[in-house]
Amino acid sequence: MPVPIRVCGLRTVFGDAVVHDGLDLEVRAGEILGVVGSSGSGKSVLLNTILGLRRPDGGTIEIFGQDIAGADGQGATRQRIGVMFQQGALFSSLSVQENIEAPFREHAHLPADLVRDLAALKLELAGLPADAAMKMPADLSGGMRKRVAVARAIALDPDLLFLDEPTSGLDPISAAGFDDLILTLHKALGFTVFIITHDLDTLHAICDRVAVLADKRIIAVATVAELELSDDPWVRAYFHGARGEAAEGRKH
Ligand SMILES: Nc1ncnc2c1ncn2[C@@H]1O[C@H](COP(=O)(O)OP(=O)(O)OP(=O)(O)O)[C@@H](O)[C@H]1O
Ligand SMILES: [Mg+2]
Repeated sequence: MPVPIRVCGLRTVFGDAVVHDGLDLEVRAGEILGVVGSSGSGKSVLLNTILGLRRPDGGTIEIFGQDIAGADGQGATRQRIGVMFQQGALFSSLSVQENIEAPFREHAHLPADLVRDLAALKLELAGLPADAAMKMPADLSGGMRKRVAVARAIALDPDLLFLDEPTSGLDPISAAGFDDLILTLHKALGFTVFIITHDLDTLHAICDRVAVLADKRIIAVATVAELELSDDPWVRAYFHGARGEAAEGRKH
């Protein structure tokens, strides 16, 4: 299988601000890759650029070997991708069921009763009770809304799943439950995961490797254990700060 994501020499500029400069990243098939970096370092912009929502100011991006700037990049490849954006972004005027059915309506042309069954299956996979289907997003807890967003992201059986800060705003127990959900789905469905997170527990619990975004590029990609041995000041501060040590302690 071609490499799920290959970013070469990415440059991103907003006015005078250079956000990415010479950023390289390769994501391996089937891995869960964590992406960390300071707030404002350009993680979400990187995700949006990989998705083709923003055109690179320099460099190239391939998804499964297809240049996203090319004609095919937007079409067939797009359907192989599921996304959970940082802001969750469920359609507030649609029920949970309708939210999960939305990708089918957009991309697949299937009979309505089949779509209903498939959406119910995704709802169950995401760990939601069947009676959540008819509720409106506003009537759900934050943790349940995130599960609905996951159900929608996996609706079309993606090969590649993008998650932007999925556990932010959750209490530690719900966040751990969410991590378990991603691990379970990853095991069952075998997709590649690109997950942006500030959550050190998540990095320890589910990520095969972690990419560190600093100084406008990816300065390291390695396992958490390897990064903990890094001499880089930013990486050291991140993994050995007070919060880092707490996450490390909980793991044992
Ligand atoms: N459309 C835009 N126009 C101008 N500047 C932008 C735009 N989108 C993002 N930026 C800037 O790009 C930088 C990176 O933003 P981004 O949202 O990627 O940060 P982030 O690493 O995801 O941060 P956080 O951890 O807080 O989510 C920020 O300085 C932001 O202000
Ligand atoms: Mg962000």
